Amino acid sequence: MKTAKTMPALNPTRLWDRVDALAQYTVPGQPWTRRAFSDLFLQGRAWLRAEFEAAGLTVHLDAAGNLVGRREGRNPGAKPIVTGSHCDTVMSGGRFDGIIGVLAGIEVAHALHEQGITLEHPFEVIDFLSEEPSDYGISCVGSRALAGLLDDAMLNERDQAGETLATGIARIGGKPGALSMPLRPAGSTAAFVELHIEQGPVLETNNLPIGIATNIVGIRRFKVVVDGQPDHAGTTPMDIRRDALVGAARIIEAVNGHARRMLDGPHYVVATIGHLLLTPNASNAVPGHVEMMLEVRSDSPAVLETFAEDVMSEVRASVESLGLQLACTQLSNSLPTDCTPFMVDLIEGAARALGYASMRMPSGAGHDAVYLAKSGPMGMIFIPCLKGRSHCPEEWIEPQQLLDGTRVLYETVMALDRS
Ligand code: GLV
Ligand code: MN
Ligand code: MN
Ligand code: MN
Repeated sequence: MKTAKTMPALNPTRLWDRVDALAQYTVPGQPWTRRAFSDLFLQGRAWLRAEFEAAGLTVHLDAAGNLVGRREGRNPGAKPIVTGSHCDTVMSGGRFDGIIGVLAGIEVAHALHEQGITLEHPFEVIDFLSEEPSDYGISCVGSRALAGLLDDAMLNERDQAGETLATGIARIGGKPGALSMPLRPAGSTAAFVELHIEQGPVLETNNLPIGIATNIVGIRRFKVVVDGQPDHAGTTPMDIRRDALVGAARIIEAVNGHARRMLDGPHYVVATIGHLLLTPNASNAVPGHVEMMLEVRSDSPAVLETFAEDVMSEVRASVESLGLQLACTQLSNSLPTDCTPFMVDLIEGAARALGYASMRMPSGAGHDAVYLAKSGPMGMIFIPCLKGRSHCPEEWIEPQQLLDGTRVLYETVMALDRS
């Protein structure tokens, strides 16, 4: 790999120190957990707001609960060039997923501020609300709302304490009543570019510092409910039990098998049941009720359309033969999304200009960029992460890798401003 040209405007120490500082906002004893809507998340956001301001950005919270920092441009009529990602984490997640996209955006703004550079376009950095599946079951809450796709059914989903998503958004300072229209309609941004860790092993395996996303998978999530009967685990004979967890196990097996059978097919297909609630959830009680989250990801709209229904019809008779009832309802749906071809070229050119080797690649992870593509051109920059690990505490990148990605982000923003 050729070494990158120096770009003294960026401050690598400040950039990395911010990653360390935000990581301190984690649940004690459970690194690295900062769930959207939690008190810790709000404390992290208060810190973030101060960092936005230190970088010379004017900050506001939009109606969807996104934290937006803005640097005005020379041309008041020009549409904003937007970057950003998310600072919420999954349970026991990492310190980099999403986070570096926000902090690199702040560093780009800070560098512009220190050099006194005013771009032609306004420049915005956004911390999107709850990119990860929230406790209400909905992911990409803030970016989805920007596109006008956070519908009433989603706003009425409840967390385990019974709070609706709408109430959660209001609690953190958003205005859920103002979300029926897109906050950023089609044509409202000059471009959106997001820096993110790859979350897979391809860049590291190929010893490449930069990846450029070509497309992002579509994701459908479903709530699957199995109802049986809770009973005493010591006294209820095996042949009269209606054990909901036994039915759930059959469904999990069927989901996995269905996706595996598509391994040699023409499409990328993965399916996961990664979240499960069980009642009564006691060692001496027969499980009477199970709720699971089924997630299907693919680059094929047709597969996304049929997967869950196919699995449910495959397994229904077997589950009902256990005296159980089965229901599957769709929670959310995002279509496979292509990155804008000229953005792919532009990012590739920015990497090349800095001396970085790069490759084009699809994204199997979901991103806020999917929804920002509804408001204008969209592109994504990936950097490698250690052994491709992500959504786990072991997630890791080196400071140099973060700097590489931030340089490409800076150069991409400058190129967009010139174009
Ligand atoms: C987001 O992290 C995803 O689930 O891909
Ligand atoms: Mn992410
Ligand atoms: Mn994630
Ligand atoms: Mn993600």
